[in-house]
Amino acid sequence: MNRNISLYEAVGGADKIRSIVESFYPKVQKHPLLGPLFPEDIDPVMEKQYQFLTQFFGGPSLYSDQYGHPMMRARHLPFPITPERAEAWLDCMRRALEDVGIEPELRSILLDRLSGPAHHFVNTTKEEP
Ligand code: HEM
Repeated sequence: MNRNISLYEAVGGADKIRSIVESFYPKVQKHPLLGPLFPEDIDPVMEKQYQFLTQFFGGPSLYSDQYGHPMMRARHLPFPITPERAEAWLDCMRRALEDVGIEPELRSILLDRLSGPAHHFVNTTKEEP
């Protein structure tokens, strides 16, 4: 991978981030540990994730421009996030990256970058609030 470009560019920019998000949320909704945490109308969540991942991977600061400081751990506090849910989230993301054709080396870099936040958002060992 060319180290001089952002992960956002390496992934393929806006269209590819969109495809990742569109592949990811149906997997999340189907996952027995994750589905119940999410609203039925997933479109607003998908839009926010598109904006967030864009900036997280070094693209334009779409999320912060609209919502201010991400404070992602705080925004996840209302939801009981167990270590198993963090792993499940990362596994859905791994499959989404695979499905949209991100090659293995880049895939593992992206998952590595997401793994820190995912584990950092763990806030309980109990599945129920
Ligand atoms: C660790 C496992 C995770 C679980 C179980 C989880 C679950 C959730 C849930 C339930 C929501 C709220 C959906 C709603 O609006 O009702 C949410 C929002 C969100 N999550 Fe996660 N999440 C996890 C990890 C992550 C990670 C690793 C990232 C990105 C690095 C992320 C980014 C976001 C974003 C951007 C939002 C929208 C925040 C907003 O409302 O502005 N999540 N997540």
